[in-house]
Amino acid sequence: QAKNRQSVSAEAYGEWNKKTNFVAPVHPKTPEVKERIQEILDNSFLFSSLDVEEIDVVLNAFEEVVVKKGETLIKQGADGDKLYLIESGEADVFKEVTKEGTNEKETLKVNTMKPGDTVGELALMYNAPRAATVVAATDLKLWSLDRQTFTHIVRDAAAKKREMYEESLKEVELLKDVDAYERSKVADALKSQLYHAGDTIIREGEAGDTFYLLLDGEAEAVKGGKVVMKYSRDSYFGELALLKNQPRAATVTAKTDCKVAYMDRRSFKRLLGPLEGLLMRNMDHYRAVMTQLGLDTKYL
Ligand code: CMP
Repeated sequence: QAKNRQSVSAEAYGEWNKKTNFVAPVHPKTPEVKERIQEILDNSFLFSSLDVEEIDVVLNAFEEVVVKKGETLIKQGADGDKLYLIESGEADVFKEVTKEGTNEKETLKVNTMKPGDTVGELALMYNAPRAATVVAATDLKLWSLDRQTFTHIVRDAAAKKREMYEESLKEVELLKDVDAYERSKVADALKSQLYHAGDTIIREGEAGDTFYLLLDGEAEAVKGGKVVMKYSRDSYFGELALLKNQPRAATVTAKTDCKVAYMDRRSFKRLLGPLEGLLMRNMDHYRAVMTQLGLDTKYL
């Protein structure tokens, strides 16, 4: 059983959001504690579209929860009324599934959640039963957020973003075998930008901290005056500098107007790190093209 350490204060959040008359709970915290939660939030994709006022409401609404190793935090199939932000410790995620072609059930471990991760957001986001069981793999220190505050302040922006990218991400070859849950995390982390035909997206030799997915349009990579890669919808680029910690190996230019989705290095490492093998495979392709064109392959 999860234990709440801090008491609830009924203190209202004054001026905010008069339209809906929604008043988020306030669980008093010292500035130091707020700062600590803020730091965790800064790294959380789910909360990334909140403005400062909204962040403050959320910071106040979080409630400390301590769970002992081995305890169940969330039970698959149950109703969900909270999500949890992990401050310290790890949690295992199990899913009961029906074995293909039988009525037999089996329980699979599908994920391990770490500090900075959010668990329990799906039930709140989609008004659905808990999709999995979450068990404390170590003692856990968590911050819980109630359904009402999540719905009023966080959900719409986050859900819109997931919806917006969902269809496109399904088409991206690189993400084909990534499960829907991980893909939704990728959606949370993405931002999008438009480029005009002729714009330079990446410049050879510069330091690079961004990974790009091309959602629409055509682009090409040029090295030594020669086109080394052509990109169309649903391809990706910019991974090399991040994988190999080196300057940009080519210049990428928009051939037509382009819509790209991009993420920073930290998100890339965290979310696409497990795909490193797949990403590296592209390198063989680059090497072949460059050798054929008589170009230097020292960056590959
Ligand atoms: P929710 O369905 O509310 O409760 C179980 C939580 O487990 C779920 O939200 C997610 O936050 C988390 N989770 C982690 N990995 C997975 C996964 N592969 N499938 C579903 N839920 C997952």
